[in-house]
Amino acid sequence: MSWKKVCEVADVPRGEMKNFSIGAFEVMVIHGDNGHLVVPPSCPHMENALADGFFDGCVLTCNKHLWQWSIPDAQPIGVAEQALLHYPSEIRDAAIWAEVETELQYCHEDECE
Ligand code: FES
Repeated sequence: MSWKKVCEVADVPRGEMKNFSIGAFEVMVIHGDNGHLVVPPSCPHMENALADGFFDGCVLTCNKHLWQWSIPDAQPIGVAEQALLHYPSEIRDAAIWAEVETELQYCHEDECE
């Protein structure tokens, strides 16, 4: 296991999401009403930045084609066709830590043939 400190809990206020660099790649921390989630920063549908989307504390919406996920369980809602990938994470000493041994990536339609 390779646990890394992502950020301080206070860096991402409730109802917000923010990208952080972890070594050679980025992750996005989502602070929902019911917990945190650490995910790859792009949408599972296409290469769109999830940080450009909308988040109300419970539902994350990609701004490109409006796929949605419930947070923090990462499950798809409505037209979304797959769940968000996410890193195991926990809070230790007011910081968010994640197990980021390998970068989680989506296989987008044009890359999977
Ligand atoms: S790129 Fe996010 S829903 Fe299509």
